[in-house]
Amino acid sequence: MQSSHCKLCNRLFYIQCYVLYRRLKAQNLIKMTEVKKEKRGGINFFNCDNIEFMKTKPDNYYDLAIVDPPYGIGDKFKGGKTGKMNFNEVVEKDWDKVPSKEYWNELFRVSKNQIVWGGNYFDLPPTRCFIVWDKKISEDFTLAMAELAWTSFDKLAKIIRLPTPKTGGKRHPTQKPIKLYRKVLSMYGEKGFKILDTHGGSFTNAIACDEEGYDLDICEIDSKYFKDGLNAFDVYKSQTKLF
Ligand SMILES: C[S@@+](CC[C@H](N)C(=O)[O-])C[C@H]1O[C@@H](n2cnc3c(N)ncnc32)[C@H](O)[C@@H]1O
Repeated sequence: MQSSHCKLCNRLFYIQCYVLYRRLKAQNLIKMTEVKKEKRGGINFFNCDNIEFMKTKPDNYYDLAIVDPPYGIGDKFKGGKTGKMNFNEVVEKDWDKVPSKEYWNELFRVSKNQIVWGGNYFDLPPTRCFIVWDKKISEDFTLAMAELAWTSFDKLAKIIRLPTPKTGGKRHPTQKPIKLYRKVLSMYGEKGFKILDTHGGSFTNAIACDEEGYDLDICEIDSKYFKDGLNAFDVYKSQTKLF
């Protein structure tokens, strides 16, 4: 009698836990972390949240982090030639959220050095070693002529002059050229470096790291970008094998 009563109590306890779990999940108070992983040579692709990913790594695990977080500006800067911001037309994108303090803490914990694209949008320490990407765009064009990266290195500032790819060839709205990543790796990478990219996007950085012979862990939270980027990586690999 005693044991069947205990069994009933146990059952009720588990049912209550399950109901509570479902309620918390429905209110987004519990986030289930699903990590999908793919491996191609020295490149590990993770379809997951970057903070959850970094939490699994020890201090200084990566020699260099090259990251390109969302700036959280949506389409605020649609002003084009007039330079006027059109706040009424701000397009909120799910992925266009500025990283939290927790993100920066984890990034600086797991990596020895960092290169942060769009560093001018974030509250980062002063640095003399920033990189200007000169997109070689003519002045009357309605796109930004340059982008800035913050770096943790104690070196001289550099300018990389490289045209931005034509929009037609883009599979991601903020896709950076493979050549840009290769150039950055040639300037700041060293043989045997283990690299981290927390915001994969189109995975052009993965192609660059593969070409330059670096091991890379790269995260992307959006499953469509992840699938498209991985597919593009495989296409690139199959094409390079032909030659
Ligand atoms: C500015 S884009 C990166 C573009 C990339 N550098 C390229 O060349 O294609 C930022 C990317 O980070 C992804 N992202 C945003 N929040 C994330 C998170 N918490 N964890 C992993 N990826 C995230 C977005 O889905 C988006 O694809």
